[in-house]
Amino acid sequence: MATSRNGENEGVDLAMGADGRTALRARESRSAAAALAGRGALVTGASSGIGRAVALRLAEAGASVLATGRNHDSLARLAKEADELDLNVHHQAADITRSADRAFLVHAARGKLPNLAIVVHSAGLYHRGPIAETSLAELDRLLDVTVRASYALTRTLLPDLIAATGDVVFINSTQGLTAGPEVGAYAAAKQALRAVADSLRAEVAADGVRVCSVFPGRTATPMQQQIFAAEGRRWSADDLVDPDDIAVAVTTAVTLPPRTTVTEMVVRPTRRLDPPPRPVC
Ligand SMILES: NC(=O)c1ccc[n+]([C@@H]2O[C@H](COP(=O)([O-])OP(=O)(O)OC[C@H]3O[C@@H](n4cnc5c(N)ncnc54)[C@H](OP(=O)(O)O)[C@@H]3O)[C@@H](O)[C@H]2O)c1
Repeated sequence: MATSRNGENEGVDLAMGADGRTALRARESRSAAAALAGRGALVTGASSGIGRAVALRLAEAGASVLATGRNHDSLARLAKEADELDLNVHHQAADITRSADRAFLVHAARGKLPNLAIVVHSAGLYHRGPIAETSLAELDRLLDVTVRASYALTRTLLPDLIAATGDVVFINSTQGLTAGPEVGAYAAAKQALRAVADSLRAEVAADGVRVCSVFPGRTATPMQQQIFAAEGRRWSADDLVDPDDIAVAVTTAVTLPPRTTVTEMVVRPTRRLDPPPRPVC
């Protein structure tokens, strides 16, 4: 038998299978859905990995979410899953490196969300290689999606975020704190993103807008699966941070009382992978 978050015995057999788990999660969602009621959230990179998990957790906390990424089918699957959980997740495909797509996305966010108060930037790409072998085109590609696109989106949405005394969350990386070898381009983009977050925080704190950088270590997502493959490692999600753990951390940060800002969070796997691998994000 399971017990709901409000302490009532729900009489649910936990060996219930996927449909039962969906129903249980839907019931839990309804009991938790208050903290972000009336808040709208735009989540980039929501077609996969960390962004997808964040979109679901924010919606569970009562937010209306607009999930975006380039892959329309993945976004549609997310929206269907959310719908089955009674969660409010809209979706809009966009390549955020394209200004026309960004303009359309902003229009969709303002149209579909009642009160745009939260922006979570999770879209990102990874590249590994020594600087001697990493082209300027590759550097530009990483800077474009990591820094330029989130800078542009944040800048455009700032009036909405100020009006809502909202939150901006940047999903960064531990490489955004200290760069290892063979990640020069990726780490440069992430460290620039940290600078954007730090400056923005100092600029908008007086307006009540909170800015948080999250620095995940290895997290079990498709991006990390590719890194494992490149390193010749056997995939082992149990040794990594779960994307939902990041989503819980993000949701906690944006549901704290307005007087308190979580400026930075480093979220790493508890156990270090052994032997020390080549550099990762
Ligand atoms: N996984 C880790 O171990 C780890 C560690 C540290 C930091 N991070 C960071 O966490 C963030 C999320 O990564 P993840 O691990 O969740 O990777 P992921 O599963 O590969 O997801 C990346 C997301 O970025 C989106 N994206 C990429 N380029 C885009 C573009 N031009 N326009 C719109 N969306 C775009 C992808 O959507 P489409 O493919 O649909 O466009 C996808 O939803 C990234 O910023 C990454 O650097 C991850």
